[in-house]
Amino acid sequence: MIRSVITGSGSALPEQCVTNAEMAKRVDTTDEWIVERTGIRQRYIAAEGETTSSLATEAARKALEDAGVDASEIGLIILATATPDHTFPATATQVQANLGCRGGVAFDVQAVCSGFLYALGTADSLLRTGMAKKALVIGAETFSRILDWEDRTTCVLFGDGAGAVVLETRDVADDGPGILATKLHADGEHKDLLYVDGGPSTTGEVGKLRMKGREVFRHAVVNLADVLKEVLADAGVESSDVDWVVPHQANARILDATARKLGLSTDKIVVTVDQHANTSAASVPLAFDVARKDGRIKQGDLVMFEAMGGGFTWGASLARI
Ligand code: UT7
Repeated sequence: MIRSVITGSGSALPEQCVTNAEMAKRVDTTDEWIVERTGIRQRYIAAEGETTSSLATEAARKALEDAGVDASEIGLIILATATPDHTFPATATQVQANLGCRGGVAFDVQAVCSGFLYALGTADSLLRTGMAKKALVIGAETFSRILDWEDRTTCVLFGDGAGAVVLETRDVADDGPGILATKLHADGEHKDLLYVDGGPSTTGEVGKLRMKGREVFRHAVVNLADVLKEVLADAGVESSDVDWVVPHQANARILDATARKLGLSTDKIVVTVDQHANTSAASVPLAFDVARKDGRIKQGDLVMFEAMGGGFTWGASLARI
C-alpha cells in the first residue's frame, strides 16, 4: 500500500536563550512560578534578522540532509505558521526560494499551535493523490514578535523555533512505515480564549497575543484525550502499542493530564517544553527531531503526534517511523 513515510527531520533555534530568571527582570514573575505552573525553564528568542523563514530554511536543510534528499526532488512545501514573514506571499515560497527548488507547490497553513498537524495531514493527503512524491512539512514561528512583553500571563510561555520533516510516498507492507491515521478538528466558538488582537483586515496592525490560559487548559486536556482515542481507534491500535507520544509543548501539566486520561505512561512522552517553551506550530517537529536525534525514537517505533491551539484547532496523527 502507498503511505507517506517520514524519512528525515531537522530543527532550528535562534541563538539567544532567555532563562526564567531573565524573564523575572522584565515582568513581575519568578522562576518558581513558571516552572511549577508550566515546566518551562528557558526559551529561545529570535534576534533582529532571524525570521520565521530563516529558521524554517535551516530546519528544512537539516531535514533534507537527514533524509538524503536533494532540494530539487521536493515537489511540495507546506509551512505551518501563525507568524509569517509577511502578510503575503506565503513564507513557504520564501523557504522554497532559499532552498533553490522552484516550480513545485508551496503554501502556508495557519492553525496556530495545531499547524504542524494540519500541515502533516494535508501533505499526507496530497502525496497520496500523486500531486508530488516528496514533501517538506515545516512548523516555524517567531512568536516573540506577537507577544505583549508587559503581560506576565502570556510572555513567559512562548518561544521561537522551527522543525521540519521530509515526507515521501513509499509502497510498503501493512506493518511497514508511514502515516497510519490522522484526525483534525476545529471549533471557532472559542476563538476569544486565544487570539491575536490585530490583523490586516481589522486593525491593519499585526497585534498581540491574548489568552485566557485557565480555560484553554481545560479544553486542551478534553480535546486532546478525545482526538487521541479517535486516532487509535481509526488505526486499530491500543494506547499501550504506542512507543512515543510527541505532543505540542504548551505546558508540562497538560502533557501529564492527557497521558493520565489515556492510561499512558509519562515515560513515553517526549518533553521539550522545559528547553523551548511553547513554540506553537514548531513545537511538535522540534520535539520529534530532538527525540530522533538523541536516539529515543527509532525506526519501527509507533509515534503519536498531537496538538491543540487557537481557533480552537486540534488534531493527532499516528505514524510508524
Ligand atoms: O499553545 C496553545 C495552547 N495553550 C495552552 O495550552 C496554555 C494553557 N494554559 C496554561 O498552560 C495555564 O493555564 C497557564 C500556564 C497559562 C496559567 O497557569 P494556571 O495555573 O492556569 O494559572 P492562572 O491563570 O489560574 O493564574 C494563577 C495566578 C493568578 O493570580 P491570582 O489571580 O490567583 O492572584 C495570576 O495572576 O498566577 C498569576 N500569574 C502569574 N504569577 C507569576 C499569572 N502569570 C504569572 C506569572 N508569574 N508569569
